[in-house]
Amino acid sequence: MAYNVAIDGPAGAGKSTIAKAVAKRLGLIYVDTGAMYRAMALFMIRENIDPQDAEAISKKCQEADITIDYENGEQVVRLNGENVNGLLRTEKVGNMASVTSVQPAVRVKLVELQQALARVRDCIMDGRDIGTCVLPDAQVKIYLTASSQVRAKRRFEELTAKGESCDLAKIKADIEERDYRDMNREHSPLKQAEDAILVDSSDMTIEEVVEKIIALCEAAK
Ligand code: DC
Repeated sequence: MAYNVAIDGPAGAGKSTIAKAVAKRLGLIYVDTGAMYRAMALFMIRENIDPQDAEAISKKCQEADITIDYENGEQVVRLNGENVNGLLRTEKVGNMASVTSVQPAVRVKLVELQQALARVRDCIMDGRDIGTCVLPDAQVKIYLTASSQVRAKRRFEELTAKGESCDLAKIKADIEERDYRDMNREHSPLKQAEDAILVDSSDMTIEEVVEKIIALCEAAK
C-alpha cells in the first residue's frame, strides 16, 4: 500500500505551499486536487457554461479529459492534452471552481483520478475532502486552517507582490463566500475528518507549519 498524507482546509490556509515543502522533505509527490477542479472550471469558462446551470455542467464535464503527470517533480495538469498550469491560479477560475465543484458528476470524475494516483504513488494530497472522502485510510490527516483575516492578508500580499492591484476587504469577502460554499455544499463539504489533526497557522511561519507536519508524519510511522 502506498503512503498517503491528506491535507484539507479552507482557501488560502497555505496548503499548497506547505504540502510542496513537506513533499520535498519526505520524498513524496505532491497532488494538488484544487488544480484539477480549476482545470475543470477553466473548461466550463471556455465553453461559456452558465455556472448556475447544474445540468449543463454535469453533461459538459464528460467532455473534459483532465490528467496529471510530473515533470521535474512539478505537477502538470492537462486539459484535453493542453498543459494549463499557467492558467489556473486566477480569481476568476478559482471562483468558478468553487461553483462547479459542487456538482457530483464533476466530483466523481476527479475523485476517481485522485484515488487511482494515490493507490500507486506515495503522496501528499491537498484539497477539501481528502481525509473525509478521497483517502479515508490515509496514514496521516491534517486539517490546516487560519483566520479569514490572515488568509486574506496573505493573498493580498501575494497579489501585490505580483504587481496586481487589489482590495483587502474584497479579498476577505471573497474568501468568506468561498468558505461558506465549500463548507455548506451537499456533496463532500469541507470539514475536519474525525481522525484529522487540526493545525491553525494564523500565528505560525511556513517553516514552523512544515516542521510540525513532518513531526506528525514521523510520529505516525
Ligand atoms: O484549493 P483551490 O483554491 O485551488 O480549490 C479551488 C476550488 O476547488 C475550491 O473552491 C473548492 C474546490 N475543491 C474541491 O471542491 N475539492 C477539492 N478536493 C479541492 C478543491
